[in-house]
Amino acid sequence: MRGVKSNIMPVAGQEMKKASMMRDLFASDTVDICPGMVLLRQFVDTAELQPELESILTVSPLRRMQTSRGFYLSVQSSNCGQLGWVSDRQGYRYSTLDPLTGQSWPAMPKAFRALAQHAAECAGFPGFMPDGCLINQYQPGAQMGAHQDRDEADADAPIVSVSMGIDARFFVTGPERRGRSSAVDLSDGDVVVFGGPARHHYHGVRKLKFSEHPRFGAVRWNLTFRKAG
Ligand code: SIN
Ligand code: FE2
Repeated sequence: MRGVKSNIMPVAGQEMKKASMMRDLFASDTVDICPGMVLLRQFVDTAELQPELESILTVSPLRRMQTSRGFYLSVQSSNCGQLGWVSDRQGYRYSTLDPLTGQSWPAMPKAFRALAQHAAECAGFPGFMPDGCLINQYQPGAQMGAHQDRDEADADAPIVSVSMGIDARFFVTGPERRGRSSAVDLSDGDVVVFGGPARHHYHGVRKLKFSEHPRFGAVRWNLTFRKAG
């Protein structure tokens, strides 16, 4: 793993100035986790995202999804945007409707979309048009096993993953599920973007240790933006 200071000039500089939550990229650390996978450290002030998150969850509340084999995921999930990722005994898929409410998912807040687009651009993926955002809540003890994000129609578009709340260890193995992994600790405000050669890399999150965040408490949130349809 290589740690480099970013020298990327943000193309959407005007956009960034408008969005006060996005910090100056020159003040942030950019880490190349592997080719196609970039960590933008301290990229966003998550205090700006918190009220939007809360209002999404009043419409489409958190729920624990089931896998096709009948196990429950250890995270609790919801979505916003046109397409939401769902899992149940029928398997994984994207759905325009929230199965819990029978209604559309809440719209993707403008600030969420702008953040995802700007992060993608800074990571070398301009023109990202996310149509879905999966929201996962991790409590201490929760984890995410090695998996690929491969349910999306457009594999040219990257995945943009935003961390909020307490820290987690994120790992990547590569094109194979098993084998040596690279790992990084993700903190509140960090954003990982993966696309190109890393778009279908296996990745996951190690079991969360207990800690507390001053605003979010003993919880981690992860938002993953996708071009699903
Ligand atoms: C995931 O791939 O869904 C997990 C990413 C994360 O929580 O950091
Ligand atoms: Fe994933």
